[in-house]
Amino acid sequence: MLLEGKVVFVTGAASGIGRECVLACAREGARVAVVDVDGAKAEVTAAEMPQSALGITCDVSDAAAVERAVATTLDRFGRIDAVHNNAGVGAPSTTLDETSEAEWDRLLAVNLKSVFWTTRAALPALKQSRGTILNTANLVGLIGQANHAAYCATKGAMISLTKAMALDYAPFGIRVNAICPAGVWTPMLAERAAQQSDPAGIHSYLDRIHGLGYCPQGDVIADAAVFLLSDRARFITGCILPVSGGAELGYRR
Ligand SMILES: NC(=O)c1ccc[n+]([C@@H]2O[C@H](COP(=O)([O-])OP(=O)(O)OC[C@H]3O[C@@H](n4cnc5c(N)ncnc54)[C@H](O)[C@@H]3O)[C@@H](O)[C@H]2O)c1
Repeated sequence: MLLEGKVVFVTGAASGIGRECVLACAREGARVAVVDVDGAKAEVTAAEMPQSALGITCDVSDAAAVERAVATTLDRFGRIDAVHNNAGVGAPSTTLDETSEAEWDRLLAVNLKSVFWTTRAALPALKQSRGTILNTANLVGLIGQANHAAYCATKGAMISLTKAMALDYAPFGIRVNAICPAGVWTPMLAERAAQQSDPAGIHSYLDRIHGLGYCPQGDVIADAAVFLLSDRARFITGCILPVSGGAELGYRR
């Protein structure tokens, strides 16, 4: 199994992409910390794992809560081999001038500053394990998207942060990579689709933006995440991997 003996700490893991990732990691032999602001759901997800797992209530924008989550994981498992920064929020669907200061601050805190907190808390353990960090970014952080200015800013920053961290932590044998999904059917996307002016049309639109012709479920992201967290990816760092069915490719008919 690809992650036998490893301990994987995943944020936003109670639902959506994060949930698929912890399930896939556990199937590959990892013990997982299911970290989520929704503690009850995190417990339920942790209880589904085939081996020892931990559900932890943690708002990733709260430094003290992140420190406690890392400490709890180390108390229980004695090590951390991987931190997957996956927790994120999407709203609002607005241009920059229509975005309130509170919305801007929340997006930055949950989607970006959280990486600062998890890195500060978990770096000593990652240095010991010569571990790895994975960030769930988004293709829009590379190519942009209308009406999601603040969200795009967080994901674009996460992508450049991934490269900077990859260089800074390479001397410690720590690899840092990012995954860029395009669309993935999760509760977040369902909520955002429902907010659009034509919720029915959004389904076929989301199928069409992917060159491969459909909007996937989270399993496609989880399979890529398992690979990047595993020793199979031992010489891959600073990689920004689109898992997007070719959504970024241009000049379609
Ligand atoms: N679904 C997509 O189409 C898509 C595409 C590209 C990137 N992403 C990114 O993937 C990640 C996961 O998105 P998803 O679609 O699975 O979303 P989701 O809403 O289905 O799941 C997100 C999880 O994160 C948790 N969460 C939210 N705020 C948190 C906080 N402050 N602290 C801890 N946990 C928190 C939620 O409780 C939830 O369990 C996000 O970073 C998102 O930006 C999603």
